[in-house]
Amino acid sequence: MRDPTCCDEVLALLLKIARKSTHILEIGAAEGLTSIAMHLATGARITAIEADGARAECMRRNLKEFGIEGAVCLHEGDAGEILPMLEGVFDLIFLDGPKAQYKRYFPECKRLLKRGGYLVSDDILLYGWVRGEPPKKRRMLVEHIREYLTMIESDPDLETQIYEYGEGVAVSHRK
Ligand SMILES: C[S@@+](CC[C@H](N)C(=O)[O-])C[C@H]1O[C@@H](n2cnc3c(N)ncnc32)[C@H](O)[C@@H]1O
Repeated sequence: MRDPTCCDEVLALLLKIARKSTHILEIGAAEGLTSIAMHLATGARITAIEADGARAECMRRNLKEFGIEGAVCLHEGDAGEILPMLEGVFDLIFLDGPKAQYKRYFPECKRLLKRGGYLVSDDILLYGWVRGEPPKKRRMLVEHIREYLTMIESDPDLETQIYEYGEGVAVSHRK
């Protein structure tokens, strides 16, 4: 297995938040390392979405290696298409898919987030560009993220805190 893509501080924060979770959703699961860590730490059922076929295949192998295929439901495909088909509610949603799509995924994340649950959005400061001056090529992406941050910070149903870990992580608590 290769090194986790989720930085240690973000993973530690996630595991702390996940402690009492029974149902967790990860959007953009890559090879499944964070899903596996969250399941092993909490025993929660995990629903994961990953668009890249090779990564999804690697995740299946990793789940098998840990003997936890039954506890993790992996949907291979585009989160934009899969999210509207999900039912039920989650205690924790880890949003770590394509950053330009966070705004688009937000209404579905809210629909799927339990009251008292947490939406954790990763990489929301992108090398400091979101609060500073982004390179020309990255302006559009940074604008998407700024708008997403405004969305979660101004949503009356959420209380959002930003942590400077890794590329920045937003933790939104659903009241
Ligand atoms: C930063 S990586 C995720 C890392 C993972 N969460 C972890 O902690 O190990 C982002 C992932 O999102 C996936 N992705 C990109 N576009 C996607 C989409 N439209 N739907 C679902 N997943 C997508 C990528 O293939 C990639 O594996």
